[in-house]
Amino acid sequence: MKFSIVVAVDRNLGIGKDNNLPWRLPGDMKFFKSLTSNSAEGKRNAVIMGRKTWESLPPKSRPLPNRLNVVVSTQNSYELPEGCKLASSLSDALKICESELAIDQTFVIGGAELYKNSISDSSLDRLYLTEVYGSYDCDKFFPAYADRFKLISMSDTQFENGIEYSFKIFEPKS
Ligand SMILES: NC(=O)c1ccc[n+]([C@@H]2O[C@H](COP(=O)([O-])OP(=O)(O)OC[C@H]3O[C@@H](n4cnc5c(N)ncnc54)[C@H](OP(=O)(O)O)[C@@H]3O)[C@@H](O)[C@H]2O)c1
Repeated sequence: MKFSIVVAVDRNLGIGKDNNLPWRLPGDMKFFKSLTSNSAEGKRNAVIMGRKTWESLPPKSRPLPNRLNVVVSTQNSYELPEGCKLASSLSDALKICESELAIDQTFVIGGAELYKNSISDSSLDRLYLTEVYGSYDCDKFFPAYADRFKLISMSDTQFENGIEYSFKIFEPKS
């Protein structure tokens, strides 16, 4: 099953600190919501995330609405709300998405551990990367990707909360 990665990184590929995002960028959150929610008529998208990213979501925001939420964990009795799926690995998560009816696109949405598994997977076909033009004190990082991907498109620079950033789309080099 083909899938995309969605991530926001700083200049050092930092993505998180203390199981949270290092910045507050409502425009990026809006982009994330729209990208991962908009699906073909009669279908919905799936979002795959690591257990720690799931726990980092504010309780009132999870599960992410209108999307199949798949949480990856080695804990086979980890409790999730009804409608969410528990997967034991990335490939198990992709199989779940494939076997569910009416799934349009599948997105891996973090965190660092899951990105590390996903970035070299042969089914990865797109990387939606928000580049934040700053350096933050992060404790979680996205893997080095630049050599393996080609830039397909890039937005104008956005400016919000004193932070500059842009939306980029990459595809794996063949
Ligand atoms: N900037 C961004 O775009 C972005 C996006 C998402 C998250 N984040 C940040 O990333 C950080 C969280 O990343 P993280 O690396 O600590 O955690 P994570 O990848 O979200 O979750 C790690 C957990 O997921 C499970 N897991 C991951 N890969 C697995 C595999 N292949 N097989 C089985 N289980 C697997 C394990 O759960 P068990 O321990 O239960 O076995 C593991 O402890 C937070 O700071 C968050 O805010 C940033």
